[in-house]
Amino acid sequence: IQTPLIFNPSMLNLQANIPNQFIWPDDEKPSINVLELDVPLIDLQNLLSDPSSTLDASRLISEACKKHGFFLVVNHGISEELISDAHEYTSRFFDMPLSEKQRVLRKSGESVGYASSFTGRFSTKLPWKETLSFRFCDDMSRSKSVQDYFCDALGHGFQPFGKVYQEYCEAMSSLSLKIMELLGLSLGVKRDYFREFFEENDSIMRLNYYPPCIKPDLTLGTGPHCDPTSLTILHQDHVNGLQVFVENQWRSIRPNPKAFVVNIGDTFMALSNDRYKSCLHRAVVNSESERKSLAFFLCPKKDRVVTPPRELLDSITSRRYPDFTWSMFLEFTQKHYRADMNTLQAFS
Ligand code: SIN
Ligand code: FE2
Repeated sequence: IQTPLIFNPSMLNLQANIPNQFIWPDDEKPSINVLELDVPLIDLQNLLSDPSSTLDASRLISEACKKHGFFLVVNHGISEELISDAHEYTSRFFDMPLSEKQRVLRKSGESVGYASSFTGRFSTKLPWKETLSFRFCDDMSRSKSVQDYFCDALGHGFQPFGKVYQEYCEAMSSLSLKIMELLGLSLGVKRDYFREFFEENDSIMRLNYYPPCIKPDLTLGTGPHCDPTSLTILHQDHVNGLQVFVENQWRSIRPNPKAFVVNIGDTFMALSNDRYKSCLHRAVVNSESERKSLAFFLCPKKDRVVTPPRELLDSITSRRYPDFTWSMFLEFTQKHYRADMNTLQAFS
């Protein structure tokens, strides 16, 4: 559903009054000063080659994923330069005039393109942000490269954008496979099982830009939701904003530009037969600074059947969700996603 341009938050942030469409009901209004969530920091340096630190890491991951599904990774091997280029091109994109950005406007029911003042599937309220989403596929014979997406959609001058995000997505895809090995170990599953499962993937990359807001206590950057995807790898800049709902309370995740925030999505929750949680989270805004975050959503190859490995099925834990493919679930979430219920349960 397209809303008028007047609802673009970047164009509204100097006005005294926030339009109603952005104002959340009292019980959902954000608290900015919430306690920090205790999330483990996993050092990936030499991990997987050193048995004792691998064991420690997989214990920490298991504990966090049973509780809320969030952890941080450092020494991930992705160059600071690539990360800073990815942020730089995000700023360049969102700094462009609206008419330019609208050339790649995201259509209703689609997961690719530029969106702003668009409730998406998360809520009835407008988010205080702008986003640009595009597909990443490990195999260019199956889908357009990121470079081709930028050039075809915006023109040849956008090749440098495409080049940076192609490289960034490739790095994210291989980092997520390494994390899949750790998740497998932590679940007591054959080490290669999840790596192999996601080696071919049909993933999604999203650049988030949150302009400052004069009334950050009334609005939300991203409404409460669980990620329907498998694994999210998020890089947030130095500005606070990400919050997770744990034990009935919103908790913040302190920005650490050296780290990526990793979280479990609904599809991995199903793959783990409900052992690991996909947890409600949101992003708040503030009155002083803009905020950017880069989200890579690892998703299985579209037609791959999501079914838990045999090791995770036993007489005590029967199957929690029936088999499904990512394309079936994606279609369902685009029509029925609701923050106040477990989408996977509704889908099953
Ligand atoms: C999201 O979960 O969609 C956004 C998270 C963030 O910007 O920190
Ligand atoms: Fe999310």
